[in-house]
Amino acid sequence: MKKVSMKKTWDKPRENTMPAAVRVPAAVVIGGVLVAPATVLAPMAGVTDTVFRRFIRNASIFTGHGRGDAGATPQIDARHLVEAPISNQQSGCGLIMTEFTSADGLSRMRESKRKRYLAYDEDEHPISAQLFGSDPLTLADAARIVEDEGFDMVDLNLGCPAKRVVSCNGGSGLLRDLPHIATIFERVRAAVRIPFTVKFRMGWSDQHIVCVELARLAQESGLNAVALHARTREQGYSGQARWEFIAAVKDAIRIPVIGNGDVRSPEDACTMIAETGCDAVMIGRAAPANPWIFRQIAQYTAFGTYNQPTSMDRYHMIRDYFVMLMEEDQNAATGGRMKQFASWFTHGLPGGAVLRKNIYEAKSSTEVLTAVDAFFAAQPTSETENEAEQLLAAGV
Ligand SMILES: Cc1cc2nc3c(=O)[nH]c(=O)nc-3n(C[C@H](O)[C@H](O)[C@H](O)COP(=O)(O)O)c2cc1C
Repeated sequence: MKKVSMKKTWDKPRENTMPAAVRVPAAVVIGGVLVAPATVLAPMAGVTDTVFRRFIRNASIFTGHGRGDAGATPQIDARHLVEAPISNQQSGCGLIMTEFTSADGLSRMRESKRKRYLAYDEDEHPISAQLFGSDPLTLADAARIVEDEGFDMVDLNLGCPAKRVVSCNGGSGLLRDLPHIATIFERVRAAVRIPFTVKFRMGWSDQHIVCVELARLAQESGLNAVALHARTREQGYSGQARWEFIAAVKDAIRIPVIGNGDVRSPEDACTMIAETGCDAVMIGRAAPANPWIFRQIAQYTAFGTYNQPTSMDRYHMIRDYFVMLMEEDQNAATGGRMKQFASWFTHGLPGGAVLRKNIYEAKSSTEVLTAVDAFFAAQPTSETENEAEQLLAAGV
């Protein structure tokens, strides 16, 4: 599978005027599965493997203290620091999704390989498996496999713009053929009992916008939720996501609508909810750059404010992630995974370029960790961090 480059940066930052009263909902129920809070880690090929998914869930854990109390005084103290020990734990990421998986490949794989391929950890629940393909029967077979593997939901990808996928009529290629989509919906729906959802783009091009029609079709076919990445296939990742189309889809159907596209901060998440009325927010590219985004949204919802990670937080985050990778795959350093993630995680850090260079030149996992240690040891510790560390040391 060709990897989608992460260099799909935002053309223009969105400007927010955050209406204070609107927050990300505490929960959404998708076909009987509770997603709490109503936030979703977007499927990202080459990114959202089991290690990354668990990592995001962990980075998202926050204390539920004050949650849902509209009158709660916004307050940030050491107990709410990004890396602070916390109680009453809950992950701020309500649902995670696998990278897209070929239905064709899955139905042809030997069982042992399939099990490895679809592996996930118990603490990843609720988790949705995303499939792509174009043949209704093969997709139905693959959905059954996913259900048997214990996934909580199955999702159909109608958004992937990659030429290789589109040329086989998969991903966004199918957006040009609604009757065919109807057959897929029908076959997959009949094949599984778990919630069935679809993630799509607005249409193939501005001349061929189908999202409202497609959302209605999904509802009529018994799907349990829809997720819209508010761009056309032709748009790729350019321009801004057009959230007004998420609002149009929300107006047209009763099943939950998950909004997606260009959410990079808690303010963005709340603005999307306010402007579109969508039931949940899905976040993709912001997560590798800021793995705390789900936690920040949860904090923002509870307290009206949220923490920015300190460089110590970043240090622990990078180290924890690398250790998780090494536990999973001894060759992770040379395999490039650590290098790939180092470049996202250190984006925007002063002197980050030097660290990235050292990581790229490292020849083993241990050398990568040494480079990370050396970099952060040389970072000046700010007064605020000192203060926070003192508070934590004092057990406040
Ligand atoms: C590297 C990368 C891989 C992606 N892979 C998938 C995928 O497997 N399935 C899918 O439905 N969307 C995929 N997407 C699209 C995202 O799920 C999401 O719709 C898109 O990035 C817009 O959301 P964002 O602005 O929050 O990033 C991918 C995006 C990126 C950047």
